[in-house]
Amino acid sequence: MINKITELLKEINSLTLQTAEELEQYRLKYLSKKGLISELFEDFRNVAAADKKDVGQKLNQLKASSLEKFNLFKAHLETTQDISTGTDLTRPAFPHIIGSRHPISIVRNEIINIFTRIGFIVSEGPEIEDDDHVFTKLNFAPEHPARDMQDTFYISRISAEDSNPGDILLRTHTSSVQVRVMQGEKPPIRTISPGRVFRNEAISARAHCIFHQVEGLYIDENVSFADLKQTLLFFAREMFGKETEIRLRPSYFPFTEPSAEMDVSCRICGGKGCNVCKYTGWLEILGCGMVHPNVLESCNIDSQKYTGFAFGMGIERLAMLKYQVNDLRLYFENDIRFLDQFKTAF
Ligand code: PHE
Repeated sequence: MINKITELLKEINSLTLQTAEELEQYRLKYLSKKGLISELFEDFRNVAAADKKDVGQKLNQLKASSLEKFNLFKAHLETTQDISTGTDLTRPAFPHIIGSRHPISIVRNEIINIFTRIGFIVSEGPEIEDDDHVFTKLNFAPEHPARDMQDTFYISRISAEDSNPGDILLRTHTSSVQVRVMQGEKPPIRTISPGRVFRNEAISARAHCIFHQVEGLYIDENVSFADLKQTLLFFAREMFGKETEIRLRPSYFPFTEPSAEMDVSCRICGGKGCNVCKYTGWLEILGCGMVHPNVLESCNIDSQKYTGFAFGMGIERLAMLKYQVNDLRLYFENDIRFLDQFKTAF
């Protein structure tokens, strides 16, 4: 009896199972009610009482290890079968959720794209600036209200009352970058400066303390107001469509003379009047003008020889018109439900 058990154990241990059928045959041969192990349990009755303990132990061992082999292979089959039959490996993978560009970036890229096609280059400068580059060199009078604490975020102010060229502040416009370009380069200069600007304003649907601008500067001999007008007409038509008209209204900026504000014909109603253009048919999009001779001189450019034009626009404003977004704050909240809607734009 003991020999029989040992041989069977050896046999079982040397067996290699590979398929579900082999497993079933194994079960029938060894583990079923009519299987070899059950037969041995039948024979156990005839074992002499003195040997019963020994034989019984061996027999139980045999049963346990053959059962274990059965269970192990069954589990193995179940997991591998899952992969080979339960899953379709030709199915496409779950799609990766890709992000989209922020609407401000989309519009900024569009503006850059238009101006670089007519020879402008992109220049960038620091967001933390000094009074000299943001105000003084741009012909702002010392008492100009834009320098006031209410408009400008100061980082360090040399004197509490008076402004000083050394005061450190967050730039309120990217004209400061153009000062740096004029100081560092000789005309002809054709450059645009996109960037983030800061003004100390209460946050509302129409104003924010952080926003983005693209400002442009063109300096050469004989640059005229007509050049400014044609450049801006080209821009407006590229940006808002071939039918777009522009109009220039007289305005004031310390760094340009004459100065103007530019409107484009409302693209929503085609000029007839709607609630986007407040029934005027026009939308204000930028400020512009001929660079003030004082600005050229303060940057060591001969104002007798050279003239130039400059313009500046707020990207949020353009994006609001383009996408008909009526609350500026949406651009800063990063709500995925808002941003998701710009997926198709480049
Ligand atoms: N710097 C002006 C602003 O921030 C815009 C502007 C630029 C106006 C150039 C005229 C010429 O509002």
